[in-house]
Amino acid sequence: MKNSNITRRKLLGGLVGGAALTVLPLPALASTHSVREFNLKAQKGSAAILPADWGKTDVWCYNGEVPGPVLRARQGDRVRIHFENALDEPTTVHWHGLRIPIDMDGVPDISQKPVQPGETFTYEFDLPDAGTYWYHPHVNTSEQMARGLNGVFIIDEKNPPKIDREELWVLDDWRLNKDASIRDDFGRGMDVSHGGRQGNLITVNGKLPDTFMVRSGERIRLRLANVCNAKIFILRFEGIDPQIVAIDGHPVQPHDPLEGQIVIGPGQRVDVIADFLGKPGDTFALTDDVYQEEPFKLIEGVYSSNAPLRLKPEGPIKALDDNPISELDLTDPIRHEITIDGGAMGAMQGAELDGTYMPINELVQNGRVWALNGVASHTTAMPPILTAERGSTNLIKVQNDTVFPHPMHLHGHAFRVLSINGQDVPFKPWADTVLMPPRSTAEIAFVADNPGDWLFHCHVLEHVSGGMLSVIRVT
Ligand code: C2O
Ligand code: CU
Repeated sequence: MKNSNITRRKLLGGLVGGAALTVLPLPALASTHSVREFNLKAQKGSAAILPADWGKTDVWCYNGEVPGPVLRARQGDRVRIHFENALDEPTTVHWHGLRIPIDMDGVPDISQKPVQPGETFTYEFDLPDAGTYWYHPHVNTSEQMARGLNGVFIIDEKNPPKIDREELWVLDDWRLNKDASIRDDFGRGMDVSHGGRQGNLITVNGKLPDTFMVRSGERIRLRLANVCNAKIFILRFEGIDPQIVAIDGHPVQPHDPLEGQIVIGPGQRVDVIADFLGKPGDTFALTDDVYQEEPFKLIEGVYSSNAPLRLKPEGPIKALDDNPISELDLTDPIRHEITIDGGAMGAMQGAELDGTYMPINELVQNGRVWALNGVASHTTAMPPILTAERGSTNLIKVQNDTVFPHPMHLHGHAFRVLSINGQDVPFKPWADTVLMPPRSTAEIAFVADNPGDWLFHCHVLEHVSGGMLSVIRVT
């Protein structure tokens, strides 16, 4: 599907040259936009994560809520978010998956200076895409997120699907002490060098798993978001047959979960639509199959005793309208390779840090255990791992030479996931995060149409602390 914005920009680019583009006013677009304003405050608070007799847990959160408030707007809107930092340390807000200008992306050093305690910052940008996105800090990220800072950003389609209602399930995990406080062992070496910070408690929308009531015959859209620091879910629906309609916010041809599973890594979102066709009193469930001995029930579903809304679905589940992403030209893409090395049980001998090669023991002393193309990073201001010319189609072969899975995330763009381990991925979906299995390869491709220095990093946040981040420059 063609985007009038992109087409228009290309056209203008052809007429006046690329450099002038960013300063050209777009009065026609601006006048049709409605601006939605939000107030967002990062602050300390307390949340009832566990049942009442446990007492509350001290958290860091947005607007006093865990997860943070759902920000909701419509595709094509402009949003203005008045952000205030009431924490004791600097932070920023990153709008995960949103294709917005680099200076609104919330990356310290690149987009903006960190927002200091007591300071404010106004984020303002247009929303080109519909779908399920989210927001989180990008400073001291592993600690700030483990303490509860995250929230979902829903952008409604111009032409929304026909459903009876929708439900959002934000999946998170927490590492708690026996007194319900958050264990403050952030950045523990063991977590950095292995699979990241895994919790000992799983919540859905900030609470222990609960019962979900439906009425027979309903068609419901379920938005699933994994906001964990490191945990991967292997989701399975029992008793209903949902169709996956969007991945990382972007529409995909409706299809059954592959082998009945939806694997969702940190940072990823999946939207499904399901017809609830059981009888009053029937049950269904959403489980996490990561734990082999016993699947963990995230949601227990029950059909209410109300008379069925309808006895059979009103037609098939239709595809959502495509987002206006520049389509790939794969006839002759620019090819790149990024190799991931390091971690426990890995073969990495050493890597470059701050321009100096260091053997592995020295790297470890500096808290780095991961590298991308031989470079371990500790800051976001770094030379790019690759440079892409604006408008070019780029195909990156990412090679995971480690024994851990890595959800690799690119800022500012959506890419198509073409293949994993040389096998075509069904529908080659658009995504902002690709979950790479241990010792695997993935091919992803995107049109570099958003100028800036964009982070490409693992979304296991302890791996980021351990050096696994890089910058892709779009000129
Ligand atoms: Cu959701 Cu750079 O991250
Ligand atoms: Cu990783």
